[in-house]
Amino acid sequence: MKELSHILANKTPKSKIRQLFDLASGRSDIISLGIGQPDFRTPEPIIQGNIRALEKNITQYAPTRGIPELLQLIGDKFSKKNNTQVDWKHNIILSNGGSQALTLTFASLFNPGDEIILFSPNFISYFYLGSFFGVNVKEVRRKKDFSPDFESLKKMINEKTKAILINSPNNPTGYVFTPNEIRELIEIVLEFDLYLISDEVYENYVYDGIEHISPASFKGLFERTITINAMSKLYSATGFRLGYVVANNKIIDLMEKYHQYTIAGTNHAAQYGFKEALKMNNNFFNDIFQSFTERRDYSFKRLKEIGFEVVKPKGAFYIMPSVEEFNLTGQEFSEKIIKEKGVAIVPGDVFGKFSNNSLRISYAIDIKLLEEAMARIEDFVKML
Ligand SMILES: Cc1ncc(COP(=O)(O)O)c(C=O)c1O
Repeated sequence: MKELSHILANKTPKSKIRQLFDLASGRSDIISLGIGQPDFRTPEPIIQGNIRALEKNITQYAPTRGIPELLQLIGDKFSKKNNTQVDWKHNIILSNGGSQALTLTFASLFNPGDEIILFSPNFISYFYLGSFFGVNVKEVRRKKDFSPDFESLKKMINEKTKAILINSPNNPTGYVFTPNEIRELIEIVLEFDLYLISDEVYENYVYDGIEHISPASFKGLFERTITINAMSKLYSATGFRLGYVVANNKIIDLMEKYHQYTIAGTNHAAQYGFKEALKMNNNFFNDIFQSFTERRDYSFKRLKEIGFEVVKPKGAFYIMPSVEEFNLTGQEFSEKIIKEKGVAIVPGDVFGKFSNNSLRISYAIDIKLLEEAMARIEDFVKML
C-alpha cells in the first residue's frame, strides 16, 4: 500500500507522555504528577448552562465564530482583564480549546519555510504544529532561572522569521514574564516587524501578587499579536474543549475560513456553559488559587530538601527540577521512578532540546497525594 502521511508517521513519534503512562497502565498504586489540568470540579453554573442549552435543544451547528453573546462576553473580559479594547464582531473566534486556537494560528500566519522562535523548554504542541505546517521552530535556551534570553533571541532572527511565540505563565517551567521583559520583547517584535503569538491559557495562575500582562495591550501591538486563551485551565473544564483567539480582523477572517473547512465550529451547547463561566464572580476562585499557592510552595520546598536544583515557579501549576545532580537523564529518572516507586513524572526532553536533564512535575493534585509522591521521590533519590 502507498505511504501514509510522512509528516505524521515520521516527524511525530508517539507521545512520550503516552509511552510513560503506558508503563503505568494496570497499576493501581501509581500517583500521577503528569496531569495538565486542575483538580477542582468544573463550577456548577457552567455545567448548568450547558445542560439548559441541551434541554432547549441547542444541538445544531453553531455560528462558525461562536455565538454572539459569548463573543461579546469574551470581548468585555478582554477589555477589563487584558486591558485591550476589541470589536467582538471582528476580533474574536472560538476554537476547540487552546490547542485548536494554536492550530488556527499556525494555519493563518505561516507559509511552509517560515520560521518561528520560542524560548525553550516550552509547551510540546508548538513543536509538532511546526512540523504539521512546515514551519521551522527555533529554540532559544532559557536562562538558568527560566527567564528569556533576548540577546540570543535577536541573533536567531533572520529574513524567514515571522513570529515569536510566548507562553506566560509557562508550561512546563512556571515562568512568568516581568513587565520589563514584556517591554523588551515588544521592542524586538516591532524592530524586526514580527508577529507575536501569546498563549495565555494559564493567565489566572500567578503567585506572589504578580499581575498577568497581555502584550496585545501595548501600543501598536494589537495588530500584530495573536492572543490565545481557553476555558480549560481556569474553569477546570478541559473536556469542554472551548478556547478562543483574539487578533486583528484579517487574521480572524482567515481563521474563520480554516474553521469552515475543517471543524465547521465548536460545540454549540458547551458555549452556553462558557457564557455562564464568564459571568461568574472571580471571588469563587480565591480559595482555589490559595490552595495552588500552597501546593506550589510545598512542592518547591520538598524538592529542594530532597536535593534537586529547582527554580520557584511564578505561575501555572508546574515545577521543573533538574536531575543533573543524580547523574540521570530526565527519561531515565522517569522510567525508573514509575517502575520502582509508582510515581508518573513527565521527562523534560518532551519540552524541547534543552531540557533533557529535567522533569516536569504538575502539582495540580490533592495535597495528600502530593505529600505521598514527594515521600516516594525522596526514597527513590536516596537509593540512587
Ligand atoms: C501552554 C498551553 N497551551 C495550550 C494548551 C491547550 O489547552 P486546551 O486543553 O484548552 O486545548 C495547553 C494544555 O496543556 C498548554 O499547557
